[in-house]
Amino acid sequence: MKGLVLAGGTATRLFPLTIVTNKHLLPIYDRPMIYYPLETLAGMGIREVMVIVGGKSVGDIVELLGDGRHFGLELTYRYQRGALGIAHAIGLARDFIGDDAFCVVLGDNILRGEPLEPLASQFEGGGWGAGTLLYRVPDPERFGVAELDADGRVLGFEEKPKVPKSDLIPIGVYFLRPDAFDVIAHLAPSGRGEFEITDVLNHYIPGKRLFAPVYEGHWADAGTVPSLLRAAELAEADDKAGRLERPVEWPRDPRD
Ligand code: DAU
Repeated sequence: MKGLVLAGGTATRLFPLTIVTNKHLLPIYDRPMIYYPLETLAGMGIREVMVIVGGKSVGDIVELLGDGRHFGLELTYRYQRGALGIAHAIGLARDFIGDDAFCVVLGDNILRGEPLEPLASQFEGGGWGAGTLLYRVPDPERFGVAELDADGRVLGFEEKPKVPKSDLIPIGVYFLRPDAFDVIAHLAPSGRGEFEITDVLNHYIPGKRLFAPVYEGHWADAGTVPSLLRAAELAEADDKAGRLERPVEWPRDPRD
């Protein structure tokens, strides 16, 4: 599998924190936000990762991460002009992905506790068309929201519905195959003008081709001020429990 981290967007929900800098450079406890999704992919045994960058301070992201060797990764970068949506950002990676299955992690998503590697193997081995992970939240209207049938099977996702049909959301982890690029190429923008990942996921629901287990670990996004704080608290709790891994020494300079 290859990996993709999405670090574009405009992060207006975090203004003024992100007026002059990129959201993914903000600190979450003891490290920049973008370290977490990279560590998630590295923890899955993925080596080749593309980072989609956009918005402010793009050069600082490259300066921070370099070629990725400190994470055990081989990083390449692609620039997203504008914030046209998660599906649009994924679409930019078509040539990089080639014929491989791939895992996308949103640049502001923090996952702890349940390793993703077994879930990725289930996706790859199970002949699924696409996958995401579900998580129960108290404020589903902020996210994509799953509608479920009586057996708990996903009937569809709605992006930021006013009246959520459940409290289960697809978190920012997506397992995809190259045919997703054709799905993305035929998407129309949503009412808010974005190419939505939920529309991509919905494409795989007929024929039961969507892999959507509930994530059993801890999850937070960091796209709003309260969630930024919660993400830091999650990392702090992990640190106190001895679960927050650190390299022997942080790189002082990614060129070292
Ligand atoms: O965090 C989970 C949620 O993430 C899902 O439940 C939603 O279905 C999904 O749409 C997304 O919702 P958000 O409103 O939280 O997405 P946001 O616009 O904050 O973007 C998430 C990350 O994706 C962000 O860290 C940067 C990246 N991104 C976003 C956009 C819109 C890009 O790289 N390019 C983009 O154009």
